[in-house]
Amino acid sequence: SQYVQKLSQEILELKEKKNAVILAHLYQRPEVQDIADFVGDSLGLAQQAAGTNADIIVFCGVHFMAESAYILSPDKTVLLPDPNAGCPMADMVTAEALRKKKEEHPDAVVVCYVNSSAEVKAESDICCTSANAVKVVQSVPADKPILFVPDRNLGHYVGLKANRKVILWEGYCNTHDRLTEADIEKAKQEHPAAEVLVHPECKPEVVAKADGVFSTSGMIKYAKENPQEEFIIATEIGIMHQLRKECPDKKFYLASEKLICPNMKLTSLQKVKWALETEIPRITVDEEIRTKAIRALDRMLEIK
Ligand code: 13P
Ligand code: SF4
Repeated sequence: SQYVQKLSQEILELKEKKNAVILAHLYQRPEVQDIADFVGDSLGLAQQAAGTNADIIVFCGVHFMAESAYILSPDKTVLLPDPNAGCPMADMVTAEALRKKKEEHPDAVVVCYVNSSAEVKAESDICCTSANAVKVVQSVPADKPILFVPDRNLGHYVGLKANRKVILWEGYCNTHDRLTEADIEKAKQEHPAAEVLVHPECKPEVVAKADGVFSTSGMIKYAKENPQEEFIIATEIGIMHQLRKECPDKKFYLASEKLICPNMKLTSLQKVKWALETEIPRITVDEEIRTKAIRALDRMLEIK
């Protein structure tokens, strides 16, 4: 619409003037993805945040992502257009609870999904995202037990893939965890020719029904490179925009209408514009926590 066009233009002008970069996760609203300099998965976004020359990073995503951007680039101004955009999964582990669990497993290596607070990262040995979790787990010496926080579903999946014993934490993504085997069955009946691509935040029994298990960027790459024409997509609805943009001739079906993350939808163009104008809400991390948390993030980014 004209309103979207006008706002988008204003944002692009402000962005140039202030030497800002706009990073957007693949779960963001289509119009927000369209004004971003980079749209990607958690790993790609962290890499972008670590390498940018901009003065301001506008993070269109959720709180832990903006926090990671600040940890990696503390000399930048990091803005989160809606400060209430959190991640319920990230809130399912606290630094205090993790310290207690570490006492029970003193020899365990703590692998921490980036969907976690800076305080939790500071208590962890290495971070991972859904794109590199298997490689990260494989980098842990074979004689060491792994404590994986907070996502029990991703932890279970990487344990299977890497053939490692993983101590799980009782955390999960509200959006992905509610997808059921029956939902996948129904989608397959409706679209029998389609391949099923599943995000590893889904339950193990849903992951077991997948033709491919991928991070969000991994799904897009696979859909582009695979000759297959039709895909059932088991992750958040926002990804459909980029899939259709990248593969206009292919067909994509969302595995269920339930696959919406309300937090990811809190970012609007209007809020992006306000953030650029006012340079708030700013995300920062206490310096003592930051210097501890960056070790776990840096170790992850070194893994190729
Ligand atoms: P990825 O983009 O890394 O697959 O992340 C999924 C997610 O749930 C982010 O909140
Ligand atoms: Fe958190 Fe799930 Fe939303 Fe990602 S999709 S931000 S893991 S609640």
